[in-house]
Amino acid sequence: MKEKEDQPSLHRHQHQKRIVNVTKKLFANNAAYVILLLLSYALGYLSSPTSHTPPPPPTTPIVVSSKPSSSITLTRLTDNVPVPTNQLDNFRVTSRCGDSLPSQLVRQTIVDRLFNATSPYTNFPPPHVSQLLRTKRVKGWGSYGGVFKRLIDKVRPRVVIEVGTFLGASALHMANLTRQLGLDTQILCIDDFRGWPGFRDKFKDIQMINGDVLLYYQFMQNVIYFNATEAVLPVPYSSGSALMKLCEWGVVGDLIEIDAGHDFNSAWADINRAWQILRPGGVIFGHDYFTAADNRGVRRAVNLFAKINGLQLQTDGQHWVIDSAVN
Ligand SMILES: C[S@@+](CC[C@H](N)C(=O)[O-])C[C@H]1O[C@@H](n2cnc3c(N)ncnc32)[C@H](O)[C@@H]1O
Repeated sequence: MKEKEDQPSLHRHQHQKRIVNVTKKLFANNAAYVILLLLSYALGYLSSPTSHTPPPPPTTPIVVSSKPSSSITLTRLTDNVPVPTNQLDNFRVTSRCGDSLPSQLVRQTIVDRLFNATSPYTNFPPPHVSQLLRTKRVKGWGSYGGVFKRLIDKVRPRVVIEVGTFLGASALHMANLTRQLGLDTQILCIDDFRGWPGFRDKFKDIQMINGDVLLYYQFMQNVIYFNATEAVLPVPYSSGSALMKLCEWGVVGDLIEIDAGHDFNSAWADINRAWQILRPGGVIFGHDYFTAADNRGVRRAVNLFAKINGLQLQTDGQHWVIDSAVN
């Protein structure tokens, strides 16, 4: 019995010896033999099914408890430390604006950051649109109201930010008023220069190329016509992204006019974002507080904003006004 049990192990031993001898003959050079052994060890190690990469750390999902809303707490599953509800900060628009830029650096900052360091008026108009523009085509809504003169006289702004410009009626009016006062004012015009779907029903003379309306080009042409290129600069992006970038770059306005989207959500977002980049002591104001379309959203957004922030709201003609100096 013992002999039977020992036989396979004897055979195995003899077989291994034969392999070693053959290998030794094959690799008369000892160094090559050692390298081969090391290589086979390494291959065996690497092809082992066990992973040697440490597992990723467990994620720490945040769950909202299903208690009644007045007592909602946030809990991190791993540490069970409750986060007070008042830290949720629902109305946070952006984390932090950059340090305020001096007003004399605003124009160059915008030109550098948005226009590759070249004035957008250089070589205007480009040949492919020159035949499609009118020498001057201006139209606005409440764009010449007394509120503009009253606020410019009072604030004497060095930086004006207009949110919603269209063909530039109100921006050019403000450029004229600041010029009359001898102010060196920079007026930034935030507009995506798309108007709104169907606006060409009433503005057929604003041409279109491949579905692209030429509102931006006609606005530029108007600024050139009124000799205001040194005072007026377009910021041709959607109001949300443009206001966020101005905040990040530290651009602040002494006077900010809101006149872009008139639905509640648009007006609400624009007012909140613009408030963040209003210089302390500055004034924010906007159109369509009292017009035929007045309660489409603007008035509700302004009222809510003033109420939540405990701000005093004034009206001037069709415009609403919030003066941070009295708040
Ligand atoms: C009523 S017009 C501005 C009129 C101008 N303030 C005036 O009185 O001459 C509104 C403008 O807001 C722009 N607008 C609307 N929503 C916008 C958005 N989300 N971002 C950028 N511009 C927007 C439109 O393109 C349009 O030119």
